Amino acid sequence: MSAVPGPNVILAVSGGIAAYKAAEVASRLVQQGATVDAIMTAGAQEFVRPLTFSALTGRAVHTDAFAPWTERNRGHITLAREADLLLVAPASASALARLAVGLADDLLGAVALSTVAPLVVAPAMEHAMFHHPATQEHLETLRRRGASVVGPERGRLASGAVGDGRLAAVEAIVGTCWAILGRAGALAGRRIVVTAGGTREPLDPVRFLGNRSSGTMGFALSTSARDRGAAVHLVTGPTSLPSPAGITVERVETALEMRSAVEAAVPTADALIMAAAVADFRPATPSAQKLKKGPGDTAPEIQLIRNPDILASVSAPGLVKVGFAAETENLVPNASAKLAAKGLAMIVANDAASTVGSAEISAVILQPNTPPRQLPSMPKSELAGLILDHLLPLLPRRTGDGGDE
Ligand SMILES: Cc1cc2nc3c(=O)[nH]c(=O)nc-3n(C[C@H](O)[C@H](O)[C@H](O)COP(=O)(O)O)c2cc1C
Repeated sequence: MSAVPGPNVILAVSGGIAAYKAAEVASRLVQQGATVDAIMTAGAQEFVRPLTFSALTGRAVHTDAFAPWTERNRGHITLAREADLLLVAPASASALARLAVGLADDLLGAVALSTVAPLVVAPAMEHAMFHHPATQEHLETLRRRGASVVGPERGRLASGAVGDGRLAAVEAIVGTCWAILGRAGALAGRRIVVTAGGTREPLDPVRFLGNRSSGTMGFALSTSARDRGAAVHLVTGPTSLPSPAGITVERVETALEMRSAVEAAVPTADALIMAAAVADFRPATPSAQKLKKGPGDTAPEIQLIRNPDILASVSAPGLVKVGFAAETENLVPNASAKLAAKGLAMIVANDAASTVGSAEISAVILQPNTPPRQLPSMPKSELAGLILDHLLPLLPRRTGDGGDE
C-alpha cells in the first residue's frame, strides 16, 4: 500500500444496462489507488444494487440528495469539494441531458454543479439514442465546457443490434481518468518517447525472426509517464496489449520501421526510453515468395545482417536517453559498457531469461558515476514508477522551473 493518499474519484453510475460494468470500473480505480465515492441515480439502482459498489469501494454509496447528513453521508457539497474527478459511467442519455442543461434535481446533478473537479463521461445507450440530435448536442455542450467523453464504442448492443453505444472498455475509461488526474504531475509539460515490444524481421511474406518481448515494460512506462502529466508517444512492436488511453501509440513491425518512428518523434522530446527488444540482426534478403520445401531440398541458409542500433544513433538537442539491457550473463559489466557506449543517462539492467515476457522484473539501475542500484523483484508497473523517479532530476531544467539557479 502506498503511503501517499490517492485521488478522490466520484463514480456516478446512471441508469443503463451497462451499469453492471461500472462495478469493474470501481474495482480497477480502487486497485490502482483511488478513493472512490459512488453515486447511484434512481435509474442505476434499477439495474445494480448499491451493495455492489459499497463492497468494492469500502465506502458508503450515495443515492439521495435529501438524505440526512451523517459521518458517512456528508452531502453533495462535501462530496463535490473533496472530489479530484467526477466520472459518470455509464452516462445515460438522460444523465447527459441533465448535466448539459445543469439540472440539480438529483444528487448527481447537484454534485456536478457544485464541483470544480474535471468531468469525464462514458456514454452508453442504444444507437438511435446516441445519434439523436439532442444527445449529440448535449455531448457537444459538455465537451465545449471541458468535459472528456470516452466512447461509446461500436459493437453489439443490449438490444442485439450492432451499432454505436457500447460503453467504452474499462481500460479506456480508467486510463482517461488517470491521465486527467495526472495532468499537474511531476512530468507535466514534458514529452517522452517510449518504445516497447519486440520487432519482427521478415524471412518471407509470412515468417519472421522475433523474440518473446510482451511489451509490458514499455506500456507500463508509458502509462506511468502519462499519469505523471507527460505527453507520451509510444512506438511499439507487435503486442497483444491494447493501446492505453491518452497516449499517442504508433505500431511498427521491424527495427527499421521503429528507427524511422523514433527519429521522427524525438526532435521535440525531452526523453527517449527504449524498452523495446529490437532485433540486432535481420535476414539480409527476405524472400519475396513463401519459402517452400521440395522433395529432397536441403534446409535454406539464412544470412543475417546487422540492424541499426537505434538508441546509440538517435539524438536530438537535450534528449535524455534511457536504455534497457536484458542480458543472460555478466549483467552489470555488460550494461555499464552499453551505458557509456550509447551516451545514456541511465540503463536498466535485467536478467533476460527471467524478465522477457514476464510480469515481474528484478533490475539494476545504472547511471554514470553512480554505484549500481539493485532493486528487488517487483511488478513492471512498479519499476516503471521508480525509473521515472530516477529520470525526473535528469531532465533539463526549463525556464519557469523553481529551485536554485
Ligand atoms: C431495460 C432498460 C435498459 C435501459 N438502458 C439504457 C441505456 O443503456 N442507456 C440509456 O441512456 N438509457 C437506458 N434506459 C433508459 C434509462 O434507464 C432511463 O432514461 C432512466 O430514466 C435514466 O435514469 P438516470 O439517468 O437517472 O440514471 C434503459 C431503460 C430500461 C428499462
